[in-house]
Amino acid sequence: MNAGHGAASAPGVPNTGYELVVRNARVATASDVFDTDIGVIGGRIAALARGLPPGAREIDAAGRWVLPGGVDAHCHLAQKTGDGSVMADDFLSGTRSAACGGTTTVIPFAAQLKGESLVQAVRDYHAVADGQACVDYAFHMIVSDATPRVTEEELPALIDQGYTSFKIYMTYDDLKLDDRQILDVLYAARRHGAMTMIHAESSDCIAWLAERMLAEGLDTPPYHALSRPPVAEREATHRAISLAELLDTPILIVHVSGPDAIEQIRWAQTRGLRIYAETCPQYLFLTAADLEGDLLHGARCICSPPPRDEAAQQAVWNGLANGTFQVFSSDHAPFRFEGAGGKKPQGEHTPFNHVPNGIPGLETRLALLFSEGVLAGRLDITEFVALTATRPARLYGLYPRKGTIAIGADADMVVWDTGAARVIRNADLHHNVDYTPYEGRTVHAWPAITLSRGQVVYADGVFQGRAGHGRFLACERPEPARPRRAARRHAPWLAALSRMDPIAQAPSGGKAGRE
Ligand code: URP
Ligand code: ZN
Ligand code: ZN
Repeated sequence: MNAGHGAASAPGVPNTGYELVVRNARVATASDVFDTDIGVIGGRIAALARGLPPGAREIDAAGRWVLPGGVDAHCHLAQKTGDGSVMADDFLSGTRSAACGGTTTVIPFAAQLKGESLVQAVRDYHAVADGQACVDYAFHMIVSDATPRVTEEELPALIDQGYTSFKIYMTYDDLKLDDRQILDVLYAARRHGAMTMIHAESSDCIAWLAERMLAEGLDTPPYHALSRPPVAEREATHRAISLAELLDTPILIVHVSGPDAIEQIRWAQTRGLRIYAETCPQYLFLTAADLEGDLLHGARCICSPPPRDEAAQQAVWNGLANGTFQVFSSDHAPFRFEGAGGKKPQGEHTPFNHVPNGIPGLETRLALLFSEGVLAGRLDITEFVALTATRPARLYGLYPRKGTIAIGADADMVVWDTGAARVIRNADLHHNVDYTPYEGRTVHAWPAITLSRGQVVYADGVFQGRAGHGRFLACERPEPARPRRAARRHAPWLAALSRMDPIAQAPSGGKAGRE
């Protein structure tokens, strides 16, 4: 089972003096499975070989999978909301929960409110994250006000400083951009080498439906799902792809819920476009039926796009297995069910359009996919690693420091327990939300030990990390965000832009994304 990873150590690092040796590991990366000891020096992986000399600390992983720590590339922590709702998790509780679920890198959002400077938004999020996070973190930005100052001055400067991805919205009144603004943002991404994430739901279709439902008194949680049907997601997904194609600019469609959007993405990928896609646990393990129940019971599972039906779940599984999806994220958006700032701002009869959108999932993401994906035979272990760690790290400029087990990478690793059944109970989780949508579900995998840069942050059911251990990660410009210059041959309008477009002018293979 050794895949040629024999004795090896980082250049200039002797095979002694390990601060930690993880012994007898069965490692999976996105490409290989092999048996090895893992030597750690200075928080990084320094050796992968059998029979390493003793380390100052030792962990015996005999009989267990040791996988790269998870990279959760879509989670919301301490995010400003603008509607009076309050996120239940800050950077301390959110990253504590991440560590306990095997996630060692998170990429939450620094959200710009309309009228606000993006630079100021990033500063504000550093103020609440720095010194609080228990695992390493980077930021995506949310661009909600795409003024010329933002797209031409702030974005380029922030990209230079390591904020190399941002999310834009096609829905939500306080966040959405129109098509022309989306083009402005995509053009900035193209020129400066950043990755654009898109929340693709058609604002007008949803508003039109929701208005009529609410006028008829159809305001309970199931109508949230009915007002955001698959066709509204499909239309926006196709439009986002078309705008990206117009500018030959890669995009990543986030939280894809079912076959209608998947078909658009697959169609675009088959045409050779660099269209990436993410899905989340709620589209595998919940359906619209979870929004039913007495009064606001179903508000727990209100998120957008909404969970669909069992056929959609199967389509999402297929998309994970056939490579349509590159990323599996939690979209952890934590609101408490009870109490101020939570899911019921107007009490037990809160209409669905006033329920804050989002569900918790940072801690359960990996166990659910390991259990129902790998152990149930739907995904290979290498695909699991790719979806939950390696590809998100690559897509957002953190690879190979994060997302893999390799010499020189940060020693972010998870020793997995896969023997016993475990029932998910919110009482056992470490987030600050008063429910989990997965209460009572049985999984057959759970982290035994989580290591962040060689430090144990979770072991034997107990959080062992500390606030401030987590460091901010400045991201590189992601290679997958590079335009495919070949597309220019079929897009003469891009050639016309080329006088002002440095990427279009660069010779094939030249350095991407810089002015
Ligand atoms: O409902 C969701 N997904 N809430 C979180 C915000 C977002 O759009 O990702
Ligand atoms: Zn979204
Ligand atoms: Zn989200």
